[in-house]
Amino acid sequence: MSEPLQQFGGNWTDQKLQRLREYLIAYHNALKNSPFKLTYIDAFAGTGYNTPKALPDYQSPLFDDLAAKDTRQFLDGSARIALQTPRPFDEYIFVEQDAERCAELSKLKTKFPALASRIKPINDEANSYLTSLCNSFNWHREGRRAVVFLDPFGMQVSWTTIQAIAQTQAIDLWLLFPLGIGVNRMLPKSGQFPPGWRKRLDSMFGEPDWYSAFYETHSSPSLFGDAEEIAVKRADSSAISSYFVKRLKTIFPHVAENPLPLFNSLNCPLYLLCFAAGNQKGGKIAKRIAEHILKP
Ligand SMILES: C[S@@+](CC[C@H](N)C(=O)[O-])C[C@H]1O[C@@H](n2cnc3c(N)ncnc32)[C@H](O)[C@@H]1O
Repeated sequence: MSEPLQQFGGNWTDQKLQRLREYLIAYHNALKNSPFKLTYIDAFAGTGYNTPKALPDYQSPLFDDLAAKDTRQFLDGSARIALQTPRPFDEYIFVEQDAERCAELSKLKTKFPALASRIKPINDEANSYLTSLCNSFNWHREGRRAVVFLDPFGMQVSWTTIQAIAQTQAIDLWLLFPLGIGVNRMLPKSGQFPPGWRKRLDSMFGEPDWYSAFYETHSSPSLFGDAEEIAVKRADSSAISSYFVKRLKTIFPHVAENPLPLFNSLNCPLYLLCFAAGNQKGGKIAKRIAEHILKP
C-alpha cells in the first residue's frame, strides 16, 4: 500500500493525540465568535500518520483477515488530527526537519483539498523556524491566535523557543517534555556529568538552577586535605515535573497544574504532556479546559 509508515510509541501516543484532538475541538468552540485569525502550528509534524509500533505477526492462515486489517492500520498523527477538527483553522503550519517526511506532509494538500491553500509544509529546524515566526509580527495586536504542538522525540526543544512562544501573548502551547526519555536519564545519581550534559540541561530549562533543585551537595575533605564537593541526586520524576511547571510559570500567565505523565508498558514515565497559555485574558479559560482534558 502507498500510505507512508511512521512508527511512534504505543498507548501513550494515543493518549497524547487524543488530548490534542479534544483541545483543538474545544479551542474552536471557545473562539467560534471571535474575529481572530487562527493558526495551528505543528513544529515536529512527522508525516501526518502514526502507526502502532507492535503490530501482531499472525502466521496462521486463519488469521489472514485479521492480519491484513491490523497491518494496514494507519492512524492519524497530529497533523491529520488538526486537519479534521470540525471547524477549520485559517492556516496550518507543519514544520518537519526530515525532507522525506516533509514531502509526505505536502501530500496532505491532496488528501484535504478543501484546506489545501491553508496548509504550509515547512522543511526546517523547529526551533529556528518557530523563533523567527514568533518574532516576525505582533501576534497580539494583529488579532492572531495559535495553538502550537511541540512533539519532539527527545531534548530538541530549547527554552529560548518556549520563551519566544510565550512572548507573543497569543499562543497556546502543548509540549511533550522529555521527562524520562531525556532529562531524568541525563541526571547521574553521583552528580558526575559527562561533558556537555549540564549545558544541554541548561538549554532545556533556560537556567542552571535546576542543579541545586535536583542535587544535594555537601563538602567532604579530599585525600589531599582540601574540601571536595559531593553531590547526590535527590529529584525523582515528580520533582522534575514540578520544577518544569514552575519554570513555565515564569514566562506564561496560565500553566496547567496537572501535566500528564505518559508511561511506557514497563510503567516508566517517558514524557510529560504540558500545557501553557500565553494570553492573559483568554488563557484563563484555556487553562481550565486543558486541565480538564489532562485528567488521567
Ligand atoms: C515524535 S515525531 C512527531 C509525530 C507527530 N507529532 C505525529 O503525531 O504524527 C517527531 C518528528 O520531529 C522531527 N524532528 C526531529 N527533530 C526536529 C527538529 N529539530 N526540527 C523539526 N523537526 C524535527 C522528526 O523527523 C519526527 O518526524
